This record gives sequence, C-alpha cells and structure tokens, in this order.
Amino acid sequence: MSEMKTEILSADADGLERAAGFVAEGRLVAFPTETVYGLGADATSDKAVAEVFAAKGRPSFNPLIVHVPDLVAAARIAAFTPLAERAAAAFWPGPLTLVLPLSPDAGISALVTAGLGSIALRVPDHGLAARLLAAFGGPVAAPSANPSGRISPTTADHVAQGLDGKIAAILDGGPTSVGLESSILDLTGTPPRLLREGGVPVEALERVLGPIQQGATTDAHPKAPGQLASHYAPAAAVRLDVMGKTDGEVLLGFGDVPEADLNLSARGDLTEAAANLFGHLHRLDAMARPIAVSPVPDHGLGRAINDRLRRAAAPRAAG
Ligand code: TXA
Ligand code: MG
Repeated sequence: MSEMKTEILSADADGLERAAGFVAEGRLVAFPTETVYGLGADATSDKAVAEVFAAKGRPSFNPLIVHVPDLVAAARIAAFTPLAERAAAAFWPGPLTLVLPLSPDAGISALVTAGLGSIALRVPDHGLAARLLAAFGGPVAAPSANPSGRISPTTADHVAQGLDGKIAAILDGGPTSVGLESSILDLTGTPPRLLREGGVPVEALERVLGPIQQGATTDAHPKAPGQLASHYAPAAAVRLDVMGKTDGEVLLGFGDVPEADLNLSARGDLTEAAANLFGHLHRLDAMARPIAVSPVPDHGLGRAINDRLRRAAAPRAAG
C-alpha cells in the first residue's frame, strides 16, 4: 500500500464533513468512540473494508464490528430477538457489541463478517462518533485503529503512531473515556456467550440478561479472533502480579504503590484504571524496558483489564 498524507481533523463541523466525505469515498478515517479509536470504513464497500485489513496488516479471517447510530439502524442489518432488544435497550449506546444473525439483504460487505452468517453490531456512546455516523448515513465497519497485534489507541496521537501515512484522516476527539474495547456478547445461541470481556462488566450483563456462558473459546478456534493470546502486545516483555520491580524494569502500579513508574489508579478505582490502561502501556512501551505490573482485582472492569494484561504478557504469536 502506497503512503499517503494522513489529515488530522478537528472535532468541528468542517472536520466532521471532511471525515464523512472520506468514508463515503471508500477511504479510511480513524474516529473516537467511548472505548478506543476505531478505524472506520463504509461497511457496504468491499474495497473500503479490504483497505482496513491492508492498513492494519490484519489477518483477513477476523470479522469486524459494524457501528450504527441506533437500534433502528441495527435492526435493518441483523435479526433481533426479544433478548437482543433487551440488551440493546439496557446498554446502547455503550460499550457492548452484540453478535446477531445477519440479515442476508442488509448490503454488508462479506469481508466485514468474514463470510459468517452472523454480524457484530454496536452503537457507540460518543458524540463525535454519533455525528460521524449521522453525517455518513450508513453502517461503518471499525476495528480498533492500531496495526494488528499492537496496543489499542485511546488518543489520536496513538493512532498516528501506528497508522500515519496509511489512512486518509484521523478525527481528533481527545482521549477516550472507557479505554477498553467493548464487551462482545454472542446472542446467536442460548444461553448468550461472552466472546470478549470489555467495557460492560459481565456482572452488569447478567443482571439484565440472566446467566451468560464465558470462556469456552480457545486460541486454536477463536470465535472472536481478537482473543488471540498476544493481541495486545507491547514490544517489551511484560510480567504480571508483581509486588516489587527488579532492576531495569518499569512498574505499572494499581492502588497504593509508591515505587510505580505509572499508576493505573493510585486510589484503586477500576474505571479510572481501564481508562488509563492502554495509554500507560503505550508510554511504558516507549521506554523500551521490561514492564512489571501490580495485581489488579479480578471483578467488574478488572476482569477485562486482566484479560488485556494477560494478552500483553503472552508469548508473541508467530508472524
Ligand atoms: O470497542 C470496540 O469494540 C472497538 C471500537 C472501535 O468500537 N472496536 C474493536 O473492534 O475492538 P476489533 O475489530 O478490534 O474487534 C472486533 C472483535 C474481533 O475479536 C472479532 O473477531 C469480533 O469482534 N467479531 C466481529 N464479528 C464477529 C462475529 N460475527 N462473530 C464473532 N466475533 C466477531
Ligand atoms: Mg483490536
């Protein structure tokens, strides 16, 4: 793919118009959501979606999440059961992706779903994302706006570090608020199955939807290929559940850890920790030293944080 000039667009009417124009032309625009920045493409265009895989260097068997402005738009693309409607009513807009049966006449590029009969849909809870979706007027396929296998971007600067010269534009909406990708819930079977921990804790999902199956997918047969073990890998080695750092390491703390180089949340707040996670990993990675990480409690958003930390620490996948 040849290098192009990547425009940085500001969060105003001009920036939005230009961003929507690029998407309509089949070009790629990174935009903020409440979770992480997405790399947006017209979900009905095979060519635009193919460009997403090229820009990310992503294995093409990975299906993409499609972003829509509301439930009405979602229902034009996928079949909603009463349970799916209840999930949407409770958690949209917000950091929950629903995997649902794809309506065959929806006009979605087969590359988006990797030929599966299902589709992953979400309604982002972010003003700028909502305005971009409205201005473009169609479904937008958007994986996280990072090169494949790298840490997800929570600022426009992170996006530029990974994708400058490979995409048409970056719509700069400042840092994202949640900081973790959406939770992915598969509603094509019974009971619902959690494919990826994320911005909505499983406890909150179960309160609304009843029992949810978890953890039955494997790296050998990833139902959500974003679950590949080393998906969120910094370049440096990562050591988890560390009480004190050794010589040469930098320490990512959680809670009262005075020797931490960076702290996810000195007051032990999991929401704050989630928002800081990828930004802190980016900054520690830039120090080119092994990264030690304090223990993080494994409940609520802590489960998604620990999931991403385990992936950051996992041996790298080949290639
Ligand atoms: O928070 C997020 O979800 C961000 C922002 C930009 O919205 N997006 C994101 O997309 O994380 P991505 O492409 O990095 O992750 C998409 C995940 C992948 O693990 C993919 O395999 C899974 O969603 N997925 C997509 N369609 C699917 C389907 N039909 N069945 C199962 N998993 C699916
Ligand atoms: Mg990703």
